[in-house]
Amino acid sequence: MKLNGKVALVTGGTRGIGYATTLLFCKEGAKVAITGRSERQGRKAIIELKKEGFRDVVFIQGDVSKSVDAKRMIEITVKQFGQLDILVNNAGIWIGGTVETASEADWDKVIDVNLKGTFLCSKFALPYLKKTKGAIVNTASIAGLVADVESIPYCASKGGVVLLTKAMALDHAKEGIRVNCVCPGYVMTPMLEQEMLEEDVPKSGPDREKYLKEIAELHPIGRIGEPEEVAKTVLFLASNDSSFITGTALTVDGGYIAQ
Ligand SMILES: NC(=O)c1ccc[n+]([C@@H]2O[C@H](COP(=O)([O-])OP(=O)(O)OC[C@H]3O[C@@H](n4cnc5c(N)ncnc54)[C@H](OP(=O)(O)O)[C@@H]3O)[C@@H](O)[C@H]2O)c1
Repeated sequence: MKLNGKVALVTGGTRGIGYATTLLFCKEGAKVAITGRSERQGRKAIIELKKEGFRDVVFIQGDVSKSVDAKRMIEITVKQFGQLDILVNNAGIWIGGTVETASEADWDKVIDVNLKGTFLCSKFALPYLKKTKGAIVNTASIAGLVADVESIPYCASKGGVVLLTKAMALDHAKEGIRVNCVCPGYVMTPMLEQEMLEEDVPKSGPDREKYLKEIAELHPIGRIGEPEEVAKTVLFLASNDSSFITGTALTVDGGYIAQ
């Protein structure tokens, strides 16, 4: 097992890519704390993980964009499991809009969760990661590498995550801490469902099929990604398999940005 004896905190681990990462980490022997704002979603995730036979899992309710919550998440993880080896800054939200249509509140919300949340959790995790010579894996996006239309706050936040990753990698390399990020293409998760809802795509029927086909065709591989495919890449960057890799932004995008 690749993470035997390791302790990980996965923000936004209650569903989607974060949940797939948590499940894979558990299968690889890690003890995992997951976070999210919804208590109900968190409890559901823990029940599912326990059903799979994993007992060393804990849910910590909190908002990564709030300093007190971010600090508390890290402290509870260490109190519960004794150390911290891996931080996965995965919690994220998507709100669309151009500079003209996105409100100031939309901008603040997306930047606060996606970018500031990554900064805050990393800040409070670093003292513990220094002790274990741990790893940070941030979830950026293809939208942090290439622009998309009507996604101003999201692109700005994810572009920030990519450079935050690289700058942190430089600052902490000598301390034995590796910092990398994954840049997924479109992945079938509740976030994509929410994006479709906002774009008035029906929940079923030919219009939904057409929309999903168009999204799939944006990727040279010709399909939308699965959360488990991103999770495997996060595992690679979190584990010793990537021991000489730091400061990288690894695409998991079916060739999207190779075009
Ligand atoms: N799906 C895609 O196509 C795609 C593509 C590229 C990158 N990504 C990135 O991958 C990451 C995971 O996305 P996903 O698709 O798995 O999304 P998702 O299914 O919507 O899950 C998001 C997770 O983040 C949590 N979260 C959101 N805001 C939070 C906050 N302020 N504090 C703490 N937790 C919060 C959510 O729980 P609560 O709502 O209960 O807080 C949930 O657990 C995000 O960073 C996203 O930007 C996704």
